[in-house]
Amino acid sequence: MPPVPPPRTYRVKSFGCQMNVYDGERMAELLGQQGIAPAADGEQADLVVLNTCHIRERAAEKVYSDIGRLAKEWGRGDGSAPLIAVAGCVAQAEGEEIMKRAPSVSMVVGPQAYHRLPAMLADAVQGKRSVDTDMPAETKFDVLPARRKVGPSAFLTVQEGCDKFCTYCVVPYTRGAEVSRSFNSLIDEAEKLVDAGAREITLLGQNVNAWRDGDGRGLERLIEALAVLPGLARIRYTTSHPNDMTQGLIAAHRDVEKLMPFLHLPVQAGNDRVLKAMNRSHSVASYLAVLDKVRAARPDIALSGDFIVGFPGETDAEFADTIKLVEAVGYSQCFSFKYSPRPGTPAATMPDQVAPAVMDERLQRLQAALNVSQLAFNQASVGRRCAVLVERKGKLAGQWLGKTPWLQSAHFSGEVAIGDLVEVELVSAGANSLAARLV
Ligand code: 5AD
Ligand code: SF4
Repeated sequence: MPPVPPPRTYRVKSFGCQMNVYDGERMAELLGQQGIAPAADGEQADLVVLNTCHIRERAAEKVYSDIGRLAKEWGRGDGSAPLIAVAGCVAQAEGEEIMKRAPSVSMVVGPQAYHRLPAMLADAVQGKRSVDTDMPAETKFDVLPARRKVGPSAFLTVQEGCDKFCTYCVVPYTRGAEVSRSFNSLIDEAEKLVDAGAREITLLGQNVNAWRDGDGRGLERLIEALAVLPGLARIRYTTSHPNDMTQGLIAAHRDVEKLMPFLHLPVQAGNDRVLKAMNRSHSVASYLAVLDKVRAARPDIALSGDFIVGFPGETDAEFADTIKLVEAVGYSQCFSFKYSPRPGTPAATMPDQVAPAVMDERLQRLQAALNVSQLAFNQASVGRRCAVLVERKGKLAGQWLGKTPWLQSAHFSGEVAIGDLVEVELVSAGANSLAARLV
C-alpha cells in the first residue's frame, strides 16, 4: 500500500454485543489520545475501525460488504480511501483471511490486542499492513487511557472469555479463556466512570457471574463494593450463565438496593435433549430452580434470556418445549436467534441441520410468544411508581426516554436533564415501551 498522511479523524463502528460497544469506546479513547478526533456526524473519516461480531453468519459476512462500501464511498478530503482497521471477533477468527479477501484493509486487530492499535497505525501510515490476533499476557486494561466522558449509563468489562464450550458458540475461540480483571482495577475504573458522568454501571462479561477476585470471591463482592460509591445509583450485570448463579450473588439481589431487579440469564432452549447436545451443562429443571431462588430473593425481578431455534436435530416437539418454557417463565424481554453454524464449532458438523424455512417458522412462533410475555410484563407494571434514569431525548418534542429499574424504556415529558433519576408513575404499556408521568 502507498504511504498516506497520518489520519486526523476517525470513526469506530461497533457491531454485536455490549462488550463490543465497550471495546469500541475504549478504542475511540485510545485514538483520541493519539490526537485523532472523532469525525463529525455525516463527515468522512480518515480512519475507520469496523469493530465486528462473529456470533452469527449475517454479522460476519456483512463485514466484507461493509469494507467494500467504505473503501469506495468514504473517500478522504484528498480523494484517497480511508485507512481501514478491522477489529473485534471476525478479526480474531479470520485474521489473515481478511487481509487476503480485502486488500483495502490495512489493520486487523483482535479483541485482546487492540491496545496495540497506535503502533499498527504508525505502520499503516507507512503503507505497511499488519495483523495482531495475539492474546498477550499483558492486558489491554493496564495500558488503555483513563475514561473521560461517558453517558449516564456506562459499561464496565469485568470478565472476558468463556470456558463453557457450548457446541454452537464461537466465543471461547474469539475471546479466549475466562479471565477476571482484578478487584482494584475495577473499582478504580468504576470511580473514573462515575467522575466522568455515569450514574449507572453495567458490569459486562461473556460469563459475568463467573467473575472471581484473587481470593475466589464472586461477583457479589464487587457489586457490594460498587454500591458504596457515592454518585453511583444503579448497578446491573450481563451476561450470566445459570450454573454460575451462586447463593451469594442471588442474595445480593435481596441485600443490595442499588442492584437493579433485572436478570439476563440465557437458557437457549426448553428441552433437555437439546440442552445436552448444546453442552449447556444445565437442565430445564435446574434453570427453573435458579429462577425460583432469584424470585424468592427479589420477587419483582424482571427476567430476560437468549434463545436459539433450529439447533441441529431439534424436532417440532422439542421446539414446542421452548414455547412452553417461555409461557411458564413470563419474560420481561428476550433475544431469539436462528441457529447459525459457526466454522470450527462442534455443532457446525452435527447431522440433521435444520432447514432454513423451518427455522424461520420457529423463530416467528417464538417471537410471537415472547411478545405476548413482554406485553403482559409491561402491562402488569402500569400503575407502578418507580425511579427512571433519564438517558436521552425522545422522538417527540419535549419528550424524554429513560429506563425503569426493570430495564423497560419509559417515555415522558417534563423539566428534566439527561442523567437525572426522576420519580414517575407508569401510565400505559406497549410491548416495547411504556408511557410515564413525572410525579
Ligand atoms: N447461532 C445462533 N445464535 C447464537 N448465539 C450464540 N451462538 C450462536 C449461533 N451459533 C446466541 C446465543 C447467545 C447469544 C449471545 O447469541 O443465544 O446467548
Ligand atoms: Fe459477537 Fe460474541 Fe464477539 Fe460479542 S463476544 S462481538 S457477541 S462474537
